[in-house]
Amino acid sequence: MNEKEIVLSGIRATGNLHLGNYYGALSKFVKMQNDYDCMYFIADLHALTTTPDPEALHVNVRNILAEYLAAGVDPDKATIFVQSDVPEISEMYLLLNMHVGIGELMRTASFKDKARKQLGIKDDGQDIEKQIIGTDSNKRVNAGLLTYPTLMAVDILIQKAHKVPVGKDQEQHLELTRRFARRFNSFYGVDLFPEPVNFDFGGKPVKVPGLDGSGKMGKSEGNCIYLVDEEKVLRKKVMRAVTDEGPKEPNSPISEPVANLLTLMELTSAPETVQQFRDAYADCSIRYGDLKKQLAEDILKVTLPIRERYLDIVNDDAYIARVVKQGAERARERAAKTLAEVREIMGIRKFY
Ligand code: TRP
Repeated sequence: MNEKEIVLSGIRATGNLHLGNYYGALSKFVKMQNDYDCMYFIADLHALTTTPDPEALHVNVRNILAEYLAAGVDPDKATIFVQSDVPEISEMYLLLNMHVGIGELMRTASFKDKARKQLGIKDDGQDIEKQIIGTDSNKRVNAGLLTYPTLMAVDILIQKAHKVPVGKDQEQHLELTRRFARRFNSFYGVDLFPEPVNFDFGGKPVKVPGLDGSGKMGKSEGNCIYLVDEEKVLRKKVMRAVTDEGPKEPNSPISEPVANLLTLMELTSAPETVQQFRDAYADCSIRYGDLKKQLAEDILKVTLPIRERYLDIVNDDAYIARVVKQGAERARERAAKTLAEVREIMGIRKFY
């Protein structure tokens, strides 16, 4: 094996990938695969914590795999695998849970958030412990959701990853991973796990806005452009994007909805094009129809080639099988080694 640092990141298998995923993660995965020992996986077990739907799950895993590949993640450079193909993860998840406190899990922001959703209650600033304990079996918060951070920590630690490129919303999970790693190392007096850090891409972090005038692009916001959107659909979405009534006087500050469209343009269009529309806003000659047409055109230049490759790949069962089998073998090799060490350290030994 080589001496490159190990980079690992996962994406939950829920729905298709959008432009936010592309600029926030996928395009960087593609760049990193040349310089690091990269492992990218589809977190299907994590998806079960919120959406246990057998048919949808398998379709989602396949789609996201095809999207990774279509966007340029190369199975000969990076290890691409499906989380559930590495059963060592599930075993180590049980073992690591013995060193994780339910209190620290219950205090995790993402847990509180998703637990509220599962219970169907609003965030009124109140603690939710009582509701969690007091609910009947129809309205329950599943234990898998609580232990989501343990599973994520195991994904990372079992591969002894050094760098984990994730968005801000995953920082807390990464912080827990470091804490669990330190705790395990010090409890058993070993130096088994490196403490993983987020990957700093340099430059300012990209926040990809949605088309609805405010906030970032997100699956649950309904404001997304998907990488595999059909041309017509994509154009229609962009043409319907929220704008404003137009600048009333020269050099007005740019409103949020229009600023968002310009941000999308900065990601996809030539700098001169963006400047041209900024100038047009400043001298009040801007026409949003033109802006949107240009934006749709430039987004399509990015997404259409991905969509085409995606359509080729997504139904190529043999190719997909080959990729994930090769990925699983590589991922399992490391995982099995770490799991054996963990078992030994914890005193689980065989008699035969
Ligand atoms: N929790 C991550 C998310 O929702 C997905 C994930 C699971 C992950 N395991 C991981 C990310 C390990 C990085 C490393 O996006």
